[in-house]
Amino acid sequence: MNTKIHELARYGKSIRALLVEDNDDARLEEANMLSGFFKVVDTAVNGQDGLVKYKCNDYDMVVSDIYMPVMSGVEMVKKIKDIDKDMPIIIISAHDESEYLIDLINAGVDYFILKPLENQKVIDLLLHECRKINNKKVATIEHLADVISHEIRNSLTIINSNAQFCLKYYADNKDLRESLNAVIDSVSFTNRFTEDLLSLSEKEYQLKLTQITDVIKKSINLLNTDLSHKHIKVYFRSATHIPMTYIDSVKMEHVFVNLLLNSMNALEKGGSISVSCTFDRQAENIIIRFRDSGKGIPENHIRDIFDPFVSLSQKGKGLGLAICQRIVDGHNGKIFAENIKKKGAQITIQLPLLEKDNSASVLSG
Ligand SMILES: Nc1ncnc2c1ncn2[C@@H]1O[C@H](COP(=O)(O)OP(=O)(O)OP(=O)(O)O)[C@@H](O)[C@H]1O
Ligand SMILES: [Mg+2]
Repeated sequence: MNTKIHELARYGKSIRALLVEDNDDARLEEANMLSGFFKVVDTAVNGQDGLVKYKCNDYDMVVSDIYMPVMSGVEMVKKIKDIDKDMPIIIISAHDESEYLIDLINAGVDYFILKPLENQKVIDLLLHECRKINNKKVATIEHLADVISHEIRNSLTIINSNAQFCLKYYADNKDLRESLNAVIDSVSFTNRFTEDLLSLSEKEYQLKLTQITDVIKKSINLLNTDLSHKHIKVYFRSATHIPMTYIDSVKMEHVFVNLLLNSMNALEKGGSISVSCTFDRQAENIIIRFRDSGKGIPENHIRDIFDPFVSLSQKGKGLGLAICQRIVDGHNGKIFAENIKKKGAQITIQLPLLEKDNSASVLSG
């Protein structure tokens, strides 16, 4: 139940809902409940009021009663569905109003909840709806990221090759050389950014039976020089038997490098990063933890940081953890962040053991 509430809170923080209910007490009670999950909950006192508010705002979901003066819920739903047939609409009603059921189904209502409201049922339903809304938003972002990144990359290739060409001819001119090098640096920065954007929508996974501890060690080795320059020590320890599993090792390496880079950024004055790998036999999960002695994550951002473009650092793009989340989700795993009581942050990854057969369905789904 707790995990469901957390998941609902994570999706809900970007959701704007309209609640339409004529009874003052019920409206207050339902608005209070929805406000616990959603970013915005506006209220309307009848169907007509609801329709006016709907037209003037940008909502992700409408929750409504049926019997209301001036304009009923059924009438309002029909009008809203005429404007946007995909708008999710949930009806909450005190009675089993089966005579309205056909009308509501024909109007395109998505769900019908009977009062008294049962917490568990309401949470399950809201979560189901929020997941759908979130998937739609993510698909739009991914599509945009994909199109924009490809276009930018084509232009960058041309800018880069022309700058390299000029650099050869004007190598003796110091000012020109410096400015061409600045162009090349900035092209490579933007290239990395577009590659990150592309990783967000990347869906092709090359799964191979892999010893994940090898991938962790390789990721640490890749950063060895930077780590020692910054006076950061990395301690890696692993349980004796970690089963091999099907993973995309290139993508997993991307995850581990991103997590190490974040810890390095949090350790401005040096310190330590502990990486551990264990196996939970009961749940059949491989657990990987990255724990650092850095400044920790501000508590009010601990859930946001996995969203794309959320960065609390000046140079960050806010894509690292969003990519990690996408890749771990793609392996049917979980990733979450917490602060350590003493000092610092800890990111935990839980990866189920994938067998090749079920991994294919996980990744295509
Ligand atoms: N280990 C950590 N300690 C403290 N804060 C962290 C840690 N890991 C992540 N964060 C916070 O989470 C934010 C988001 O991280 P994320 O990796 O998504 O983006 P970023 O590092 O800012 O930029 P980039 O796209 O270059 O990775 C960071 O800006 C940082 O404030
Ligand atoms: Mg990062």
